[in-house]
Amino acid sequence: KNLVVLISGSGSNLQAIIDATKSGQIDGRICAVISNKADVYGIERAKKAGIKTHVLNHKAYASREAYDQDLAQVIETYQPDLVILAGFMRILTANFVQKFVGKMLNIHPSLLPKYQGLNTHQRALDAKDTEHGVSVHFVTEELDGGPVVCQACIKVLSNDTAETLAQRIHAEEHIIYPKVVEWFCQDRLTMRNGNAWFDNE
Ligand code: GRF
Repeated sequence: KNLVVLISGSGSNLQAIIDATKSGQIDGRICAVISNKADVYGIERAKKAGIKTHVLNHKAYASREAYDQDLAQVIETYQPDLVILAGFMRILTANFVQKFVGKMLNIHPSLLPKYQGLNTHQRALDAKDTEHGVSVHFVTEELDGGPVVCQACIKVLSNDTAETLAQRIHAEEHIIYPKVVEWFCQDRLTMRNGNAWFDNE
């Protein structure tokens, strides 16, 4: 399977997915990594792994539509089976999402449907939640609202801060995201009628 990964930052999830393609856990090839920001560590990680990189700076575009159109064009040159959002910090237009529906995954650091959007760790602390976690979901037009495929859950400790929660959740992310991509590449995971389907056989 051909994979394209979109990032905006350090790319530790990208690294976990690179490692899983190298070890053979994921039966797929990362054709390209695309970032909306230059000089992020994720781009270095991709280069070190010999993966083609693109930087598409959103600030050079007059509108979100125009940006997403170019982004889709770059992605489509790789004919990906799956587009992986790995810390890609941009809201996507409906037109863009429709092009990749059922073929695009995102990872979001909360137990969805709780805490869509930003600052999820602080919001979990403010709400005095005893559990917190991370979700991998198919991307639909609704921000962080598509069908959830897999979640990992951690206990919130009395001395936790947003930073310590983020750290422990990152460790979970690096396990579940490669796992979900593995399932997708095995054709065991599909989106049908707005639901995530898992084929157990
Ligand atoms: C992760 O916390 C992910 O859940 C969120 O963005 C962060 C990306 O981290 N969507 P990294 O760039 O993969 O290290």
